[in-house]
Amino acid sequence: MTSPLPSASLDQLFRLARTYNEWTPRDVEDRTIHELYELLKWGPTSSNCCPARFVWVRCADGKAKLAALAMEANCPKILAAPITVIIGYDLEFPETMRKLFPARAEMMRQFFRQPGVAEVTAMRNGSLQGAYLISAARAQGLDCGPLSGFDNAAVDQAFFSGTRIQSNFICSLGYRKPDTPFPRNPRLSFEESGRWA
Ligand SMILES: Cc1cc2nc3c(=O)[nH]c(=O)nc-3n(C[C@H](O)[C@H](O)[C@H](O)COP(=O)(O)O)c2cc1C
Repeated sequence: MTSPLPSASLDQLFRLARTYNEWTPRDVEDRTIHELYELLKWGPTSSNCCPARFVWVRCADGKAKLAALAMEANCPKILAAPITVIIGYDLEFPETMRKLFPARAEMMRQFFRQPGVAEVTAMRNGSLQGAYLISAARAQGLDCGPLSGFDNAAVDQAFFSGTRIQSNFICSLGYRKPDTPFPRNPRLSFEESGRWA
């Protein structure tokens, strides 16, 4: 039997969680990033295809390389962050089905190899895995600053050359400076966002 998380945990994960671009000097340890992956990897994907691939950009050279490919307003955010992870998706993911879904590996591999199927599946499920990353990071007490304002093709060239991995979005990770730059914006109400059917 599972029960709802305590309200304070829901605040930390959702209600009070904000997007941050300024950070304290506190390092994010390797172990914390490994623990983050060990949580996010359990998020569900179609046929367990797990197409997301991650580059954890932490060294000064890596940050400079990534920042140079971002929109001007996003450069300082990348340079300031302890880590910025590039969340990509691998169009070659069908080849991993032998490991990820051994009972139906060949059937799933052929299904995902049909024209156009790998692209939409990788983008959909890779994006979900990016969202699992944000939620897992917040659950661990990390703060996140997701960004999509960068040149995807240039990032692919710089970080995924020789592969069929494509960048989706990036997300800075660290421990926030207390004040956020802008007040929380509203969200759509339940009624505005959907309807019963
Ligand atoms: C996929 C994604 C891409 C984003 N890209 C940018 C960006 O390029 N630049 C930026 O300043 N903020 C970016 N943001 C931050 C959003 O504007 C922010 O998460 C949103 O306004 C909600 O803010 P809140 O979490 O503080 O409520 C992005 C967020 C997401 C999830």
